[in-house]
Formats: sequence, C-alpha cells, structure tokens
Amino acid sequence: MKEVTWKSPSNIALVKYWGKYPVQLPANPSISFTLSAAATTTTLKYKQGTGQVVVFLEGEEAPSFLPKIHTFLERTQKLFPFTREWDFEVHTSNSFPHSSGIASSASGMSALSLCLMSVKEALGITITDFFEEASEAARLGSGSGSRSLYGPMAAWGTHENTPGSNDRFAVAYNHIDPIFKSFQDTILLVDKGTKKVSSTVGHQLMEGHPYAAARFQQAHTNQTALLTALSEGDLEAFGSLVESEALTLHAMMMASTPYFILMHPNTLKVIEAVWAFRKETGTPLYFTLDAGANVHLLYPASHKDVTLSFIEEHLKTFCKDGSYLCDAVGAGPEKIG
Ligand code: PMV
Repeated sequence: MKEVTWKSPSNIALVKYWGKYPVQLPANPSISFTLSAAATTTTLKYKQGTGQVVVFLEGEEAPSFLPKIHTFLERTQKLFPFTREWDFEVHTSNSFPHSSGIASSASGMSALSLCLMSVKEALGITITDFFEEASEAARLGSGSGSRSLYGPMAAWGTHENTPGSNDRFAVAYNHIDPIFKSFQDTILLVDKGTKKVSSTVGHQLMEGHPYAAARFQQAHTNQTALLTALSEGDLEAFGSLVESEALTLHAMMMASTPYFILMHPNTLKVIEAVWAFRKETGTPLYFTLDAGANVHLLYPASHKDVTLSFIEEHLKTFCKDGSYLCDAVGAGPEKIG
C-alpha cells in the first residue's frame, strides 16, 4: 500500500460558530486561534480497490468511527471522486489523552482531509488550491475543523471585514499584533466525560431559537471589533470580546428548547478566580469555553510564569484529577510523510 501522513492541530474559537445550515454551512462567522500541542496525526494507506475503509485509533481497530467516515466520504465525493476505486486504512492518533474532553473532530477531520488531498495530488487530479480544498473537505466532516488548516489564526463564514472569508472554507488570518502569536492556551480539564449534549444537537437547537437572529448579528459585530483589537494589540478589548463570546455561547444553550447546561460548577469557580486574579494583579489573563465544561485560559507568553503559578496554586483544585494541558498558538498542519 502507498501511504501519506499529516499532523493537524485543534483550534479554539474566539468568535463562536453556533448554528448551521445544511450541509455544514455556518449561520455566523467565526475566528479561531490554531493550536500547537493538541493535534491528530493520521496516516492514510491506500491501494486500488472498491472503497473499503478500515480505521485504527492509537493502533487499535476502531469500527465505531466508520459511520462518520462514510458520511464524510459521501459528502466529499465532488472533492475526492476517486475514493470508491481505492481501499483505505486510516491510522490515527491524538496527542492529547483519550477522554480528556478535548474534541478530536476538528484535528481528526482536518488531518484526514489533508491526507486525501495528498492522494488526490498523487493521482494527478487537478487541484485549485490545496489548503482551501482541504478546509472545505474538513468542514464537511466537522464545521470547526475547517479552521484547523492554517496558523496562527483562521476565519470561517462570510464576514464583511474579514478578507476572503466565505462559508465554504476557512481562510488564514494574519493581521495580528505579534503579541497574539505568542498566546498560550492552558486548557483546564474541569470535566473529562463525554458531553451530555453533542454540538450537532446544540447547532440544531439554534433553529427556531428565540435569540438566533440577534446572536448571529452579534457575531458579525464582535468579529469586527475583535479584528481591531487583534491588529492594535489591544489586550483588554480582546479579553472582553472573547469572554463575552464564550458566555454568550453557553447562554444560547441555556435559552434553547430543550435547555441544557454544559458548564460544571467548577467552570464558574475558575471564571470567578480568573476575574479576581486579573483585578488584583493586572495580568492579561482571559478565558474562553468550548461546548463543554473545560476552560481555556488565554494569555501572552510574557505572563506564562505568573499564570502557571496561579493555576498550580488556585485553579488546579477545580480540575478533574488536577489535570490541565499547556498549549499555545501554532503554525498549522504539517506533512510528516
Ligand atoms: O464543529 P462543531 O460542530 O463541533 O462545533 C463547534 C462549536 C464550538 O466549538 C462551540 C464553537 C467553534 O466555533 O468551534
């Protein structure tokens, strides 16, 4: 069998994608930091055949992933018309611990999309733009996965002030003050279990949501303001927009029908402690949340020592088994072989 390997990172949204239209088109624009440590490495082995797929996770055969991969291959037929004439072995592994509560769908779907792009290239099929097509494919597997293709930041969803932005694929975003390229993301693992409500269901609940229109409009306004903060290196404006986006995401969940809460009591304890620490010390330490209980702490590398001491002394106690992961803004995917 021939093979190709890509390593692709996870990402953390600053303006949140929450709500979508078929197939995997976003109801509002979003923008994210590309991460560095949290990543999926996928080797795709292929030989001529009839479209058979076998998946291995951390070396073990994992048939439970097959339905998702088959849906993905159906949705990406236009981009990868060759997949029915080849047999594939997908060997995938994550840098972050299993069941840590870190979603592997963004990094996993982007790594697989990149591998399939490399196969497409090897087969001599015309490619318009390698990373744009990879991002479009990743989007069809995992909406937020479309943003894992470029560092240090990526934007997805049409937004009037974000150059090149569109709903089909994410674009790289680089107009940022260097301080943001140094940003750290320490992920406090408040709850490690699987989510009570999947993001697929959460997105669906934005359909007919009483605050949907206002929320989608707000994402546009917040993204415009965030771009200004990013280019001016305005940490305070950055922090208040990012924290507001995180809380709004969870507010949408709480106001859905049916309503649900993905935060854990310790999520709120961490948030209160971060606010108090920032007030007392002036450290530019901010939080964001994804669709779960874990807290992402965002801060410049220049404040790493003081923040890590604060985490060790005051926040670790709110983490499941005291665990947290240290990550940082990264450069995007890497072809390994
Ligand atoms: O890509 P999905 O369907 O898992 O949705 C991700 C949604 C959030 O993580 C909450 C926000 C985002 O923009 O990544």
